[in-house]
Amino acid sequence: MKIAVLGTGGGARAHIARLAELGHEVHVGTRDPEATLARTDPDMMGTPPFGSWLAEHPGVELHTFADAAARGELVINGIDGHNAVAALSAAADQLAGKTLIDYAVPFLYNPDIEHPWPTPWGVMPTLDPCDRDSLGEQIQRALPRTKVVKAFVTQEQDTVVDPKAIGGGDHTMFVAGTDPGAKQQATDLLKAYGWNDILDLGPLVAARGMEMYAHMHSAIGFALGFGTHFGIKVVR
Ligand SMILES: NC(=O)c1ccc[n+]([C@@H]2O[C@H](COP(=O)([O-])OP(=O)(O)OC[C@H]3O[C@@H](n4cnc5c(N)ncnc54)[C@H](OP(=O)(O)O)[C@@H]3O)[C@@H](O)[C@H]2O)c1
Repeated sequence: MKIAVLGTGGGARAHIARLAELGHEVHVGTRDPEATLARTDPDMMGTPPFGSWLAEHPGVELHTFADAAARGELVINGIDGHNAVAALSAAADQLAGKTLIDYAVPFLYNPDIEHPWPTPWGVMPTLDPCDRDSLGEQIQRALPRTKVVKAFVTQEQDTVVDPKAIGGGDHTMFVAGTDPGAKQQATDLLKAYGWNDILDLGPLVAARGMEMYAHMHSAIGFALGFGTHFGIKVVR
């Protein structure tokens, strides 16, 4: 299948590599392919420049966000949460009629807040929107011709594409969205990644809970020690 991954960050790279391994034709989207390939410095999380990573993944094609979206039959959104609505809106025509699986978190970095939460890398970013809206719903409102599914977001990049790497894969993944066919596409992809316990949370409004879990995910990560892989299991 032709799958577009919009984004070049660490999460996007995990999906790109796994999708290529599964035999899919992967089209990656970035703002400016030439500028992305010209970068030589790691990002703030220490992620190496995309060009050197791409050189080790032959067959993966790099385009603008809109060109990648046009080529994908299924699209994954891995654009920085604060900038995702604007960037995706600019590719609305190319995304029309397609399923868009969104895993972004609407983090606002370097917030000036009254009661900061110190983390190993600075102050915890705030969520905006939060509680009364979600990024997933904002994207759906901006792209009414696209079928938005929120998924992947509760799991970190290494294990979202390889759930069996922890606990034998006995943990839970979530999907939410309005269109049943689109949710089925996301579920099929998750099963191909190795997920067995996929909980359908219902309509896209549940994206609020999935995005707000980001803070709890960080808290668990800090408690276990940075870099420790873990999953969450809904026991019922
Ligand atoms: N990594 C994970 O494990 C993980 C897990 C769950 C959720 N998330 C969330 O998923 C999202 C993506 O995460 P990620 O780690 O894959 O990548 P990321 O580093 O958060 O985002 C990188 C992508 O955002 C794009 N971008 C940055 N600023 C932009 C702007 N002003 N306009 C348009 N595009 C812009 C970059 O474009 P260029 O390609 O042009 O540089 C790049 O493709 C984030 O919201 C993150 O919080 C990540």
